[in-house]
Amino acid sequence: MKKTIAALVCLCSLSYAVEYDELQGQMLSLSCASCHGTDGKSVAVTPYIAGMGKNTMYSILLDYKNGKKEGTMMQKHVKGFSDAELEQVSYYFSKIER
Ligand code: HEC
Repeated sequence: MKKTIAALVCLCSLSYAVEYDELQGQMLSLSCASCHGTDGKSVAVTPYIAGMGKNTMYSILLDYKNGKKEGTMMQKHVKGFSDAELEQVSYYFSKIER
């Protein structure tokens, strides 16, 4: 029973996207700028993330957070974010022109 409820909660939280809040998205994106450049326009070895699709980025970030995807820095960085915050920041970068 507990498992069923957990699964339902999980499904619900996946199917409802957060409402985009530009200010919050931009604030959160500042924590990425030190490595990925201003607005994700990387000029260093880190990936260029400006203009990446929102859902693509969100699922990559969730994979880092859940340990499904490995990296040198990202796994550590995303641990401090809620899923909703990761979605907000993904919206933000998706709206930047590449
Ligand atoms: C401390 C440096 C650092 C910070 C801060 C950081 N990143 Fe990263 N990011 C990396 C590195 C390095 C990689 C390459 C994968 C790895 O080694 O972890 C990466 C990879 C990624 C990728 C995968 C790109 C691809 O094409 O697969 C995404 C998406 C991403 N970062 C988004 C973000 C977002 C959004 C933030 C802010 C919430 C952020 N990163 C903060 C260093 C950082």
